[in-house]
Amino acid sequence: MKYLLLSCMVILAGCGHSKHEAEKPNDSYQPFPASYGYMENLPALQDATDKGDKAVIRAHGWKLWAGIMQPDTQTGWPLWYSWPNTSAAFATTAQQLAAAGAVPQTQTTAAAAVSITQKNKRHVVNVNTNGPFYPVRNEVIKAYPSAIAQTKDGPVVKDGKNFQSNGDIMIATESLSASAMATIRKEQLYLAATLDKKHQQGVKMLGMPKDFIVTKHMYWPVKAQGITALPVWKNNYPPSFTDYAGYEMWDTVVGIDPSGKSVGQYKPVTAFYGIKEHDKVTDWPTRKAMALVYGLDRFYFHKVTQQDWDNFNDADKAILSAASYWLSNKAFEVGDYLVTVAMHINTKELPSWTLQSVWWSDEPDKGIYAANRPAIPAAQGPWHHYLMTDSYAVPPNAKGELDIAVNPYIEGVIHPIATSCRNCHVRAGWPEGNTKGTASYQNPDCPELLAYLTPKSQCLAPLTLSDYLWIIPDRAVAPTSP
Ligand code: HEC
Repeated sequence: MKYLLLSCMVILAGCGHSKHEAEKPNDSYQPFPASYGYMENLPALQDATDKGDKAVIRAHGWKLWAGIMQPDTQTGWPLWYSWPNTSAAFATTAQQLAAAGAVPQTQTTAAAAVSITQKNKRHVVNVNTNGPFYPVRNEVIKAYPSAIAQTKDGPVVKDGKNFQSNGDIMIATESLSASAMATIRKEQLYLAATLDKKHQQGVKMLGMPKDFIVTKHMYWPVKAQGITALPVWKNNYPPSFTDYAGYEMWDTVVGIDPSGKSVGQYKPVTAFYGIKEHDKVTDWPTRKAMALVYGLDRFYFHKVTQQDWDNFNDADKAILSAASYWLSNKAFEVGDYLVTVAMHINTKELPSWTLQSVWWSDEPDKGIYAANRPAIPAAQGPWHHYLMTDSYAVPPNAKGELDIAVNPYIEGVIHPIATSCRNCHVRAGWPEGNTKGTASYQNPDCPELLAYLTPKSQCLAPLTLSDYLWIIPDRAVAPTSP
């Protein structure tokens, strides 16, 4: 109930403003379910982390993943969908009005960087990978004009009420536990002015509560009719590869057939329409492949209903449609599916956080990322059809480094493959920037992408660290810093 009250203050649309809005399904918060190990036996988890006991760590990670994907019994969405997300957490009054189509968006750090991909690029001056360019299709701009922001890269879809704009085919949501949301709002961590003040006061670290959970989840748009293509990661690139390695490049493509009729057969699929090369001019080739077809049962998925559609705002609809046009050359419609391809889950159960991340695989029992999967009889859904990487604060490896830990779908579109969740997230802080003494994904002060960094590392000393959270410096409004 506490969260609901809070949402009255921060989400204008959420408080019985209109009957329709009051009925939106994600008004009822579903907490993390019991019996998936969350917040249980934390001294043992800390001990396993200190010793680098991967079996214990990974069993915990698997359970967090299965737990957070359990269905919300009221809506059928996974329960995290009932949680507040970064659109709401970092909203200001003017922005909320903008989301409702009333006034233009206010100046924010994101003014010239609306999508997550664009935000990422601001901070990776040296190791930016040159990925394809996704111009928003005219059909989308025409259908949802209020959802479009003009940037130096041209029109970009804004963040929606339920989805955050990733700027490519993946449909992102960054959801927050009730306590996470309450902390960001209560302490006004969504305002650059708050962060400036903390920095002036010499605060070294913003502390987050133990029950802070934050996720990043990626849906893939799948048409109800026909067979939709999905690229699958096969360790296509060695760690030494520093160029672009996003899903558009991967050799293997599977098909998803919601009707189930072609499952197990090889069928022709086509993917990627209206995408440009990095030069923004040359067409990115449409991909044609013979793909082995899978049914929806291999995936966590959600069929979008009319009720869902009515609950989406225009930016949500534009995010879905832009993605579906880029993938399948067709708008997203009621009755189409959202299929889970990847998810990051970060919890503050330990002071050094638990970081884990999963992605779909057609060979989910092969390789190191399949290891230590426990039996979870109560868990609904095909959580075991996904692979998982983890990045807990374990001792450094034989090279004195962190192990590589990236999600090929999520990091593949932006960062080099040979990096780690932990190395990058520990750098999150204020003031943000990309010069010495500021926080960036690859601070010039500590450039190594697999270095064993901790909040105590000398190269992070000038910063007010935001406790492994990049959304805070990335999304805080109206910065006074570069
Ligand atoms: C090179 C940098 C980098 C790497 C590597 C990276 N991330 Fe992130 N991550 C980011 C940035 C930047 C954001 C903020 C995006 C935004 O503003 O919405 C982010 C956002 C997130 C979020 C949302 C909450 C937050 O902290 O901002 C989660 C959860 C997350 N990442 C988990 C992971 C996990 C798990 C891994 C490893 C599998 C990982 N990340 C690897 C840079 C990175």
